[in-house]
Amino acid sequence: MEDKDKPGARVLEHKRIVVGVTGGIAAYKTADLVRRLRADEADIKVIMTRSAQAFLGPLTLQALSGNPVYTELLSKGSDAGMQHIELARWCDLILVTPASANFMAKLAHGLADDLLTTVCLASTRPILVAPAMNREMWLAAATQENKQILEQRGVRFLGPAAGDQACGEVGPGRLIDTDDLFAEITAALAPGVLRGLEVLVTAGPTREYIDPVRYLSNRSSGKMGYAIAQAAAEAGASVTLVSGPVALAPPRGAEPVWVSSAEEMYREVMSRAHHCDVLVAAAAVADYHCGVPALRKLKRGGASLTLTLLPTPDIVKAVTALARRPFTVAFAAETENLVANAQNKLEDKAVDMIAANDVAANGVGFDHDRNEIEVLWRGGSIHLAKGSKQTLARRLIRIIAERYRAKKDTA
Ligand SMILES: Cc1cc2nc3c(=O)[nH]c(=O)nc-3n(C[C@H](O)[C@H](O)[C@H](O)COP(=O)(O)O)c2cc1C
Repeated sequence: MEDKDKPGARVLEHKRIVVGVTGGIAAYKTADLVRRLRADEADIKVIMTRSAQAFLGPLTLQALSGNPVYTELLSKGSDAGMQHIELARWCDLILVTPASANFMAKLAHGLADDLLTTVCLASTRPILVAPAMNREMWLAAATQENKQILEQRGVRFLGPAAGDQACGEVGPGRLIDTDDLFAEITAALAPGVLRGLEVLVTAGPTREYIDPVRYLSNRSSGKMGYAIAQAAAEAGASVTLVSGPVALAPPRGAEPVWVSSAEEMYREVMSRAHHCDVLVAAAAVADYHCGVPALRKLKRGGASLTLTLLPTPDIVKAVTALARRPFTVAFAAETENLVANAQNKLEDKAVDMIAANDVAANGVGFDHDRNEIEVLWRGGSIHLAKGSKQTLARRLIRIIAERYRAKKDTA
C-alpha cells in the first residue's frame, strides 16, 4: 500500500492552516514542517512576527508554503485592509511554532498589537501552540500562569520537550520534534470521534441556600468538566455544558447553561437528556439541600443552630431510568476504596461508565489542574495516569467514543 492510500493519509488534503512563527532560535524548524504539510497537500499561510524575521527569512517560508508570508497588521500596500479577519475565517486551524514566551503572554491577556495575535483573537478555530524557550523562561511563574489561562480557554499545547537547549542549559523548553508536531496537527484535523453526536456535560459545584446570603457547597472548581466539554467539542460533538457557579470561561464550542442549585441542574439536565447521545456528569452535585431557605438572613442567636437537610434529586439515576437514555458517564469523587466504591456506583446508578478519582490524594482532584482517573465499565477498566485535566479529558473522550460505539453495535 502506498502512503497516500493508508487510512487517514489524506487528512491534510486541502486543509487550511495558518502557521504563526514567533521570535526564537527554533524558528528555522518551521521550514521543514511547512514543507511536509505542503507535501500532504495542506494549504498553508504563514504569519511571521517582526522578531521571527530576525531568525528566519520570510522568503524561505514563502517558497515552501507557496503563498506570500504575512508580516504586517497595518500594511499600506495592495494587501491592506481586513487581512486579520480574512485569515481568521479562512483557516481550519492555527498553529504557532515556535511560540515565544512573549507571544503566550500576549495571547493570554488578549493583546492584539501584531497580525498573529490579532488573527488568534479574531478566530474561532482551534489554536495549537508549540512553545520553545530557555528552561527558566518556561518555568517562570508568569509563563506557567499564561499557559494555564490559555489551556483553560481551549488553546492546545504541544510540548515543550525536555533536553539540551540552544542556550547551553538542559531542561524543559525545547520545541517538540517535527514528527510529533506533524502527528498532532494531523490528529487535530482528523474527523472527530464524536462527530454528529449531542453531548451533555455537567460541571462545577451546586449551591444550596440556607438564607439569602449563605449556602452549602463544595470544593469543585469545574476544571475537569470544562476540560471534558472542550475535548468533546474538539472531537466534533455538539456540546451543551450545564454548569454550576465557577470562575471559568466557557470552553470554545460548548453552549453554556448556568445553574446554581441541584434542583436547577436536575431540571436543565432532564429537559435535554432524552435527546442527547452522551451525558458526562462531572458536576459535584449536593446530596442534600435545606428545603425552603430562610427568607431573611439568619441572625446569631442561641448556642446552636440545627439545619434539617433533605435529599436532592439524583440526576444520574433519573437519567439512566429514562426510556430513551443517553450513554451515561458518572464521576465518583472518593476519599477511600476508590475502585470498590466506583464499582458499586456503576451498578447502583446503572451508568455505562464511571470515572473515579481520589480527591484525598495530593496534587490531584478538586481545584487542582492535574488529575488521575480510574475508568470502569462493565467488562473492563483503564487507568489514566496523572496528567493535566485537558490531557485526561481528551483520553476519556476517546474511551467514551469507543464504548459508545461498542454499545451501539451490540444493541
Ligand atoms: C538570540 C535570541 C534567541 C531567542 N530565543 C527565544 C526563544 O527561543 N524563545 C522565546 O520565547 N524567546 C526567545 N528570544 C526572545 C524573543 O525573541 C523576544 O521575547 C521577542 O520579543 C519575541 O517577539 P514575538 O513574540 O513577537 O516573536 C530570543 C531572543 C534572542 C535575541
